[in-house]
Amino acid sequence: MLVSSENNSNVDSNKDRNCIGKVIFSKTEKYVQDCSGAKTYGYIRGQYRELITQGQSLVLFSRKENIKFYVKVEKIENYPITSGGFETKVTETATKVILNPFFEISSSEDYRGKYRPHNLVSFELDFPNKDELLEITNIPKEGIPLGVLVTNKDTIPFNYPLYPEDTIYQSIFTTGVQGSGKTIFHKLLIQAINAKTKAAIVVLDREGEYCNFTQQEDMANEGQRFFSNHDIKSIKPNVLRLSNDFFEANASLSIQGINPTDMLLILPELETKSAGILRVIVPQAIQHLKHDGEELTWKNLDKEIRIELRTSQFLTGVAGASIRGAIERALISHNLSLFDQSKKIKLVPEVLFKEGSVTIIDCQSLSADQQRMVALYLLLMLNKHKLHENNLEPGVLLFIDEAEVLFPVKPMSGERDYVLRLEEMIREPVRRGRKHKFGIVCITHRPTDISPAVENLCNTKIAFRSSGCKTWISNNFGKEYVYDIETLETGTCYISTMKTSHQILAKISIPFVGNRDDILKLL
Ligand SMILES: Nc1ncnc2c1ncn2[C@@H]1O[C@H](COP(=O)(O)OP(=O)(O)OP(=O)(O)O)[C@@H](O)[C@H]1O
Ligand SMILES: [Mg+2]
Repeated sequence: MLVSSENNSNVDSNKDRNCIGKVIFSKTEKYVQDCSGAKTYGYIRGQYRELITQGQSLVLFSRKENIKFYVKVEKIENYPITSGGFETKVTETATKVILNPFFEISSSEDYRGKYRPHNLVSFELDFPNKDELLEITNIPKEGIPLGVLVTNKDTIPFNYPLYPEDTIYQSIFTTGVQGSGKTIFHKLLIQAINAKTKAAIVVLDREGEYCNFTQQEDMANEGQRFFSNHDIKSIKPNVLRLSNDFFEANASLSIQGINPTDMLLILPELETKSAGILRVIVPQAIQHLKHDGEELTWKNLDKEIRIELRTSQFLTGVAGASIRGAIERALISHNLSLFDQSKKIKLVPEVLFKEGSVTIIDCQSLSADQQRMVALYLLLMLNKHKLHENNLEPGVLLFIDEAEVLFPVKPMSGERDYVLRLEEMIREPVRRGRKHKFGIVCITHRPTDISPAVENLCNTKIAFRSSGCKTWISNNFGKEYVYDIETLETGTCYISTMKTSHQILAKISIPFVGNRDDILKLL
């Protein structure tokens, strides 16, 4: 939906507009409107040819009438036109464009809306001015500043919409090949959200990339300027490290962070009978701990479960012994040692979901299996805190970089069960997240590597330079953007919020907010 701004509907200025090309209006090259939208033809004058790209928006206007259309360039055709004999001839390169009108403004009739039939003879083409561009792109004047719009003249700030407030909690999905600028962008996103909202941010850092944020004084000029112009402060996040090495870790998972019976989901897969027994025993063990006034820790629960196993009337004979054995083997699972380690900071809601906090959960030294368990633990915690206990404030955003490792589209046989649990667990909180102020930011190399169940949940799509995903680009941005997205420069991206109520589709350039010594791109 396009919104109006104060001073851009004035089409009287059409008289003074520049002409970069004209419409071609004939019996064969006509203005057609059908179920797929509207289409017309035009040509671009030689000196502007190189400034035109597919997917770009232009203004189609009449100098005589007070009418203009916003049109999108669907296709560009270049070909030579030659006239004259063999010795002397005049050759010109024609640049023909196929245009899709998508909005009409007629000030004499006070009309603003969908394109209508018109006689387009003598209509001309121009680049949109700054106000028109804001209207076309629907970028809000205020929001989360993330870069500047890529245009061929003006510098227009790109703000991610903060209103309606739920836009950011409808989750974000980012994709891009290695080295295309994803991590730098998300570090900016985290700091910009931190500056403009009270959300609590939690980053599941699988690679240790988010433990340090470049401070403003160490950035190149571009980053320093962007931070000061938009009142963004560089942050020093709270880094909580999980590790199998007791001395390296400063944090631990805790049964107190989740609903204790959800421990059943954390435990490795058991065959049906053993799982059934465990489902009965775990609540009983929790009851006993409470009754005896013992602290709810994994160590105590583990002890209690073992006592229940030994005394249970269900586990008699050889069959009972074999079930007991299977459950005991599951309990000594290496991964569970990450729970309730003494003298470590517990990952519980009071620590992670504090207004305006940025917490990095550094799990780079854990195995992929354990990282999946940490993700499942965080989702169970959010489920309890946001959906069951209904804590609305602060909003929580969970960032997951290289998410394809946690949610692979084709899990290996040993991983399948856990991946399915994760997918199930992410669906509910994310789907209901907008009402409960919870969202995920999922970052991956290729959209086809990640489970579609997760990708579909995210209503904002961001594409850095991508490859091997033409269909995904067409479906989410439009087929006219495929080539442009496949060849994007590092640090530029397309962003689409078309699935939210504040619809934007824009190409933006991201300021480099890393250390000035790390910059590769010439400014
Ligand atoms: N906005 C930018 N402007 C200029 N250069 C950039 C920008 N963003 C990234 N770069 C350059 O590209 C390099 C890689 O960026 P980054 O680590 O963000 O990529 P990535 O997409 O996260 O890669 P990977 O998938 O390997 O994690 C940076 O070290 C920097 O040199
Ligand atoms: Mg990265």
